[in-house]
Amino acid sequence: MKKRMLIGFALLAFAMQTKAQMQPIYLDETKPLEQRVEDALSRMTLREKIAIIHAQSKFSSAGVKRLGFPDFWTDDGPHGVRPDVLWDEWNQAGQSNDSCTAFPALTCLAATWNPAMARLYGRSLGEEALYRHKNMILGPGVNIYRTPLNGRNFEYMGEDPYLSSTIVAPYVQGLQSCGVSACVKHYALNNNEKDRSETNVIVSDRALHEIYLPAFRSAVQNGGAWAIMGAYNLYKNQHNCHNQYLLQDILKKGWNFDGVVVSDWGGAHSTDEAVRNGLDLEFGTGTDGLTKNTSNAYDNYFLAYPYLQAISAGKYSQDELNDKVRRVLRLFFRTSMRRDHPYGFLCSDAHYKAAREIAEEGIVLLQNKNNVLPIDLNRTRKILVVGENAVKMMTVGGGSSSLKVQHEILPLDAVKARVGTKAEVEYVRGYVGDTGGMQDGLSTGQNLKETRSAQALIDEAVQKAREADVVIFFGGLNKANHQDSEGDDRTDYGLPYGQDAVVKALSQVNKKVIFVCISGNAAAMPWKENVPAILQGWYLGSEAGSALAAVLFGDVNPSGKLPFTWGQKLDDYGAHKLGAYPGVKRANENIVDEEYKEGIFVGYRWTDKEKVQPLFAFGHGLSYTTFKLGKVQADKKEINKEDSISFKVNIQNTGSRAGAEVIQLYISDLKCSLPRPLKELKGFRKVFLQPGESRDVTITIGRDALSFYDDRISAWNAEPGEFEASIGTASDAISSKVKFTLK
Ligand code: GLC
Repeated sequence: MKKRMLIGFALLAFAMQTKAQMQPIYLDETKPLEQRVEDALSRMTLREKIAIIHAQSKFSSAGVKRLGFPDFWTDDGPHGVRPDVLWDEWNQAGQSNDSCTAFPALTCLAATWNPAMARLYGRSLGEEALYRHKNMILGPGVNIYRTPLNGRNFEYMGEDPYLSSTIVAPYVQGLQSCGVSACVKHYALNNNEKDRSETNVIVSDRALHEIYLPAFRSAVQNGGAWAIMGAYNLYKNQHNCHNQYLLQDILKKGWNFDGVVVSDWGGAHSTDEAVRNGLDLEFGTGTDGLTKNTSNAYDNYFLAYPYLQAISAGKYSQDELNDKVRRVLRLFFRTSMRRDHPYGFLCSDAHYKAAREIAEEGIVLLQNKNNVLPIDLNRTRKILVVGENAVKMMTVGGGSSSLKVQHEILPLDAVKARVGTKAEVEYVRGYVGDTGGMQDGLSTGQNLKETRSAQALIDEAVQKAREADVVIFFGGLNKANHQDSEGDDRTDYGLPYGQDAVVKALSQVNKKVIFVCISGNAAAMPWKENVPAILQGWYLGSEAGSALAAVLFGDVNPSGKLPFTWGQKLDDYGAHKLGAYPGVKRANENIVDEEYKEGIFVGYRWTDKEKVQPLFAFGHGLSYTTFKLGKVQADKKEINKEDSISFKVNIQNTGSRAGAEVIQLYISDLKCSLPRPLKELKGFRKVFLQPGESRDVTITIGRDALSFYDDRISAWNAEPGEFEASIGTASDAISSKVKFTLK
């Protein structure tokens, strides 16, 4: 018996060993990726190759069933996993298992100035995507905040290329550590929503390379992004979803991007350009990739049957096709064909904790006169909460980043929960904004209907404010049309719905008004001098109310810093001062030319140059404690081009409670043959300190931090000469400087 068993095991081992040898290379995870790609490619038919480079449904593209490649599933968005839709619908499918965690909008993540939060964000979102069987998340967005009217700034990371570059990379790494691909968008120059599909951006090479591309480059070269989404707009008169310059010259040849270029939905407009200019995976909403739906729409996409026909007719060899297929196969092996990815979780405690921590670290304390904040419940009897944004859900709406959440804790509920019986909390509407609350067939279920007049609401609020110890006004924008939403921009810089009148009236009868701005954009605040406390509250997702209440009542010490300049008025932004927004429609053509006349002078680069005093500066954010910075010291007086230089500064928490400060390093090129901004952010470090604790912080930079894009030689260059490093806690709060020389 024993002998027969041994023989049996031996035969089994031999069979398994043979099977392993028989296993095709592309299925053998021990083989190098490129070998598996080539093996799979060599086995595919022409039709199979065409099938995997275009959508088969709203959010999926085909695998290669015959070879064991499953279908490939994508989903929005940057802040959480969008509810499932039916095969070829935009409206949600009404599932009962796709309510997600809504993480804070990306302006809030940027406002944390904390790369560790970005990695936590990406990882948590990746686990939600795994649970929902999504192979690629359509995010993050990193378009630069050029105008405060842009409807989608809330989905992006602000005005500064270095800050965006430093936050996007760990987000991508965290997400992709789950075997879920990022799809960094919208590449490139998609800086406003108005006329987004017709806008042809005219921009200098310097601004393109110094301002608008760095975050995408960092996502690819530091983050290792496996996919990039082409934008709707045009550059050099070519649609960005098949743009020779952006996709071939810069992304694939210049940055060695080995991933997939995905079109925005309906962003492809030409088979020939899509074939030749580097589009790899076409998604859309109908036959011609645009909005027209006919039967069997997906086979008529530009990279579908028309491309197959053209190859069969000899118009193209299979060279371009094979490059696209290699990239898509690489994406499959990195995601849908991976067996070793972690488990997925939906709405786990860990994800709610992550959402809350990111929110708490991203909230920015903009103003706090007479230390009105944090609210001291030992000395507060009556709190009046005013404003629609105290009760309105913000996770639904805003376009493709809209989410169906398991819960969203609203500000009023969180304030009441936090206060408990320690004080009386009363709520009045104050104003009426958007009583909608529906997106893609998904409703918030809230009834915000109001029949009273605006004046009646103001009178009620004023009357209550007279008797309150403190008034918390929740206002701002709300992701309704033209109020921070995809597809359109704001039409003016002021707060909508008559909020200014309400805030003004309240501030006349109560000296402790706290304005909490729920928005993804800056807005005018004509009443700023009469309102002691102002908090930037962002769109914070599922844990919004909890995070806001924690900061308002001092359980959390705010440490957020603005990722964009907060102008007094529109003309504080170069794009508006120079009349460079919106674009100008061409006669007889459906094209809008938008020339970025401000060039590299975006945000604080503009206000520094024009000596404009913004309401709040880039990098600004207060704390409930105080910090003291020592004098910055450099470890070298002069450096060669290949050297690095380190700047050391001591920081002390001189207040009575723990807190975090962001030390910011700006570099000035004191003499250059081309115009350069007065200073540019080139390093930062967030430091958490106990009361009284001090720490030496060192920030090291290399030649890259001294370089500018020299359009005379179409390359980055650092000119020898004198430079100056400025260290501070905001772009307008520089505490010390030190000069050094590049030899
Ligand atoms: C939208 C957006 C893009 C989104 C895609 C799918 O038009 O521009 O960000 O991921 O289509 O919804």
